[in-house]
Amino acid sequence: MSAAPDINPDRLHADLAELATLSAHPAPAVTRVLFSKEDLAAREWLVGKAKAAGLDVRHDAVGNLFFTLNGSDPGLPAVATGSHTDAIPNAGAYDGVVGVLGGLEALRTLRENGVTPRRSIELIMFTAEEPTRFGIGCLGSRMLAGTTSAEEAASLRDADGRSLDELRPAAYAGDLASVILPTGFYQAFVELHIEQGPMLEKQGIDIGIVTRIAAPAAFRLRFTGSGGHAGAVLMPDRHDAFLAAAETALAVERAAVDSPSSDTVGTTGLVEVRPGAINSIPCDVRMEIDFRDTDVDARDAAIDQIRSEADAACGRRGVTLEWSCINIDPPAICDEALVECAEKHAAALGCGHTRMISRAYHDSLFMARICPTTMLFIPCRNGWSHRPDEYASPEAIAKGTNLLTRMLLDLAR
Ligand code: GLV
Ligand code: MN
Ligand code: MN
Repeated sequence: MSAAPDINPDRLHADLAELATLSAHPAPAVTRVLFSKEDLAAREWLVGKAKAAGLDVRHDAVGNLFFTLNGSDPGLPAVATGSHTDAIPNAGAYDGVVGVLGGLEALRTLRENGVTPRRSIELIMFTAEEPTRFGIGCLGSRMLAGTTSAEEAASLRDADGRSLDELRPAAYAGDLASVILPTGFYQAFVELHIEQGPMLEKQGIDIGIVTRIAAPAAFRLRFTGSGGHAGAVLMPDRHDAFLAAAETALAVERAAVDSPSSDTVGTTGLVEVRPGAINSIPCDVRMEIDFRDTDVDARDAAIDQIRSEADAACGRRGVTLEWSCINIDPPAICDEALVECAEKHAAALGCGHTRMISRAYHDSLFMARICPTTMLFIPCRNGWSHRPDEYASPEAIAKGTNLLTRMLLDLAR
């Protein structure tokens, strides 16, 4: 089997730099929220690049974009790669983007070298891997896998009460029920991504090959107490919604720290306090909790503990609590044959590699439900991610992209 041609690292680097300029916050921060003007500009830019590379372009009704290098036997299930280009507020330039632009560079390299694979190879840019707009992550891949139904997607609302139908561009109009893909549509899926943790860099390893993706869960909490004047209402008479929420946030930390599983992590990443005035007692608090583990039983036991501590805090303070689940997903197990394929090509490229779990979620979590899946991680500086100083070196990105190219071509033979 002849190896795939090498990618062009300078071109890939230039693409990364250009896409980073399409941001709602100034460099080095990158902010691209689903269907914001920056997200729409990034989509248009990407479609232009893919067309210029001679790839076929299509989209679905939720705005997932598909770029195809046609194979000689297009009736066979295609091999797919991809990731996301949306970015949470004040994020960096690499999360998701490395997988999309690395995939583009892989397909472009194959095409310009006259390589026609047997199976088609598709690059997917997934809609809203980040939960910023609708509170739920991986919206596009959840819908492709049928994990989120058309009805559930249609009922989503953003912070301003707007629905997918109101926000999606006219070009994507269509029945949300048509987004789901049948099992077997893809032969395999491989996602290239920065590690978002420090392990590869610390150990000087080029590539992490993902065998499992931790199971995420997210909850929306609303605490309702009673407000009043910060000077006039004496302490015994208070029903402070923020203090019940604060006790709950500490319970989140405690439950993660006390968990018998060292992989349990819990985060209270969003708190909105109303009325939000220094001299007014908080009466209405919204809070969102993110809780994850590779071990679902440990995760769920910790969530039960948080719930009972939150109920107790609210009971003591005379505050009511509405608790709703945003998502509670099982972990993904990656495909052993794909992991071995990655190991074989990493060794042939002279890349140091190791097997690892992904603690962050990715679109691969849902692609794994409909086809054999794995992920390739590359090191990023200090493991930093979801912050403006996120960085992966051009050399690390090139290694990951060369490995991705070889894998895609091998799987598409
Ligand atoms: C993805 O961005 C995650 O939160 O894991
Ligand atoms: Mn992210
Ligand atoms: Mn990501």
